Amino acid sequence: MGALTGKKIVLGVTGGIAAYKAVEIASRLRKAGAEVHVIMTREATEFVTELTFREITGQPVSVDMWAKVTNFNVEHIALATLADLVLIAPATANIIAKIAAGIADDMLTTTVLATKAPVMLAPAMNTNMYENPVTQGNMAELRRRGMQLIEPASGHLACGIEGKGRLPEPVQIVQEVMDFMTREQPLQGRRIIVTAGGTIEPLDPVRYLGNRSTGKMGYAIAAEAARQGAEVLLVSGPSNLPNPAGVRTVRIQTAREMQAAVEAEYGEADAVIMSAAVADYRPKNVAADKIKKSDDELVLHLERNPDILFGLGQQKQQQVLVGFAAETCNVEEYAKKKLTKKNLDFIVANDVSSKDAGFAVDNNRVQLYFRDGRAEKYPLMAKAELAKVILEKVAGILS
Ligand code: PMT
Repeated sequence: MGALTGKKIVLGVTGGIAAYKAVEIASRLRKAGAEVHVIMTREATEFVTELTFREITGQPVSVDMWAKVTNFNVEHIALATLADLVLIAPATANIIAKIAAGIADDMLTTTVLATKAPVMLAPAMNTNMYENPVTQGNMAELRRRGMQLIEPASGHLACGIEGKGRLPEPVQIVQEVMDFMTREQPLQGRRIIVTAGGTIEPLDPVRYLGNRSTGKMGYAIAAEAARQGAEVLLVSGPSNLPNPAGVRTVRIQTAREMQAAVEAEYGEADAVIMSAAVADYRPKNVAADKIKKSDDELVLHLERNPDILFGLGQQKQQQVLVGFAAETCNVEEYAKKKLTKKNLDFIVANDVSSKDAGFAVDNNRVQLYFRDGRAEKYPLMAKAELAKVILEKVAGILS
């Protein structure tokens, strides 16, 4: 039995000189046990023939959306549905741009748009095209949507120049596919609620009280939890970030809306990670019309918002509860108080006293305090890395 036995892989081949290497990729995938269905772009057929792939894979090859259908079950949208993985190798700058833009004008792009399977691309092109900010931006967009990009190799390119853009050797690409398909998903089947961003509390129809949270931390956790197999609900305050791939995202504005969204699914949740910066107070009266300038001073009366996490701690059953505490001083003391008061499994104490960590930047500097008294201190780290650390702890408690 090969590492890919039972897996169905749709191999997209696009029109670059490296298309000939896709023949060996198809062959190796098949030897590893996969059922391989090839979709070629029209341009790819200028470099390699359909017949070659048909012989190598033992399956019909798709090119034309409008070709006579021989076996409906492996045509059109059916390929998108049957795929366990869509691998595009080589992926030209053109196909990358089309996928980034959501274009579906041939069999391959239609399949990519229609599939729910993971998509992996192996970009291969001229170095200047690869380095062009448009291509780099398109690749970033694909990564953001959860697609996997295989790093191109450097070396002598067919166009005569040296640089980055070569398709890696087929053996490496197939290894990446095997690593991906057999990766561990420690949160498979777990339901995780993540909150992110800051809540905003209206003062009048045009103004609100808010804070500087951007959602970066919570979105990183939600995206990573989905990658690790969890079914994720992200409850987010206003944020400019796009919804993370594979994550059910609910956008709210106020603390009370966040509370309602979280509590609606709390009973079924395995874990709740509250990274949101929730407003503790809201204006007592929300003016129906825009507040006008009058005196030199404006006095606002605020009232307490519910403490969402405290409430969850009170009702806690099977759920692992994780809180955050952004502090500028006495970090340990304040965080530990919140850990106990809110009945948490652990708290992420976030030292936001320096500008390089905390709100609106890509890094956090944290210490974790656990209910059994353990403490772990971490150096400045990317929020994406911290997300992995937090989820590893959650998975450990759940197992
Ligand atoms: O979004 P970014 O720009 O990436 O910034 C991320 C962050 C700095 C906001 C985040 O990493 C963080 O530290 N969040 C916690 C913010 C905070 O100070 O929380 P707190 O100390 O007010 O609350 C403690 C815990 O109780 C938090 O988990 C909070 O979500 C929760 N809480 C607080 C108040 C409230 N009314 N209800 C709550 O549930």
